[in-house]
Amino acid sequence: MTSTEVREKIIQIALRRGIFFPAAEIYSPVGGIYDLGPVGRALKHKIIQLWRSIFIERYGFLEIETSLILPEPVLKASGHIDHFSDPVTTCKLCGNKFRADHLLQENNVNVEGKTIDEINQILKVADIKCPTCGKKGFSDVEFFNLMFKTNIGPVEGTRGYLRPETAQGIYLAFPRLFRVYGKLPLAIGQAGKSFRNEISPRQGFVRLREFTQMELEYFFDPSNPSVKGLEKILDKTVPVLTRESQENARKSGTEPEISYLTVRELIDRKIAPNEPMAFFLGLASEFYSRCGIPKGKIRFRHLFMDEVPHYSGGNFDPEVETSYGHIEVAGIAYRTDYDLKSHSHLSGKDLSVTLPDGRKIIPHVVEPSLGVERLMWAILEHSYREKDEIHDWEWFDLPPELSPYDVAVFPLMKKDGLAEKAQAIADGLRDKGLSVLYDESGSIGKRYARADEIGMKWAVTIDYDTLKDNTVTVRDRNTAKQVRIKIDEIANFIKKNAGIN
Ligand code: GLY
Repeated sequence: MTSTEVREKIIQIALRRGIFFPAAEIYSPVGGIYDLGPVGRALKHKIIQLWRSIFIERYGFLEIETSLILPEPVLKASGHIDHFSDPVTTCKLCGNKFRADHLLQENNVNVEGKTIDEINQILKVADIKCPTCGKKGFSDVEFFNLMFKTNIGPVEGTRGYLRPETAQGIYLAFPRLFRVYGKLPLAIGQAGKSFRNEISPRQGFVRLREFTQMELEYFFDPSNPSVKGLEKILDKTVPVLTRESQENARKSGTEPEISYLTVRELIDRKIAPNEPMAFFLGLASEFYSRCGIPKGKIRFRHLFMDEVPHYSGGNFDPEVETSYGHIEVAGIAYRTDYDLKSHSHLSGKDLSVTLPDGRKIIPHVVEPSLGVERLMWAILEHSYREKDEIHDWEWFDLPPELSPYDVAVFPLMKKDGLAEKAQAIADGLRDKGLSVLYDESGSIGKRYARADEIGMKWAVTIDYDTLKDNTVTVRDRNTAKQVRIKIDEIANFIKKNAGIN
């Protein structure tokens, strides 16, 4: 099956099972806005929980929730008003707008490093037709700011924007939280929605206008960048596309090779700009591997300095290979003191902090910024399995800790008290903190098929023996093998085998 066929299969399953689907779909579809159904929402929750356990809870870092609407000065200071734009061109015949660089890339024209004048020249002479009307004739490129603009309150005047990243809320909260916690390093994370008014999102669930980020800002003293806990992850490997490997590949016209470097090597060879960057590269590598992204399918691309965002003193972008090509699923950035300094200037508030030794500094920041929905898509692509000798249906080989619900519970049949017993068992498991998918419709075979199709790892079945001896069968999705255990052992079995604490 080609990767495009896999993509189609996943979309069909997602729509059939209500995992995700276009928002407001009874009206004309609007690109880049999706709803999650119960299974999609449950999977998203598991992804965020995994991030939380690795990036927040393991180190006792802080997690907050800040507002989605930001007043204009915040985004002036952050640079988003001046820099957060994409080049747009309009088809003069049908009026549709396109992202100029994407349009050219799709027609195999490399625009990397080209000026706007050069792009305009290429658009005029190249034989590129409008993807919508098929005719030829594009306007000069203009810059389109990607933020959603609104008024705060009923009158024009107090302009606000939906946040383009969750990070700004963390910068704004930093002065207060520093007063509460009073020390550096201070690591503050949040998971939540962000908004980007993409020009013409044509990659389904992968390029969204409303999406979820899991971000963490690690505020530290640049003259003392050592990270507590670093020693435990020094030997973890990170799949890096070094700048050298990218340059060599460009020269030889080949694919760049991934180097598997330990966190220690990233520090010793000065590939990471500082210890916190190496630390978070190590954590991100662990996170993606636990999400089931196979080795060889993910690479942390070290960006060249002419590619990094306006605030960055160095970036590594994890990219996963998918049917859409390599998609960026995160950015791990050394944001220096850019944001706090800018907010200090524009607000007139002193955002420096005084350290115990009396020095007054503006902290520097390292930011692992991970996206959820793109990752969710990548996870689905890499865990999708066709029918095989065990499964007469398609299924997802999701890592057990990302199983949308912790366990499925089925009665063998609805009659003879089996359904009532199964419901009581499902309630008991919920009381023990597990998320449960209860299903009694159709035949037991159909229920296993439906559970496999959404990537459920464990299914508990209540049968006639259960009524006699209080035992149930637990079926493993991958092998379809069943073990018989006592009802009061189910919760521990699932927790142990799904890595739930
Ligand atoms: N906070 C980094 C980004 O949203 O790109």
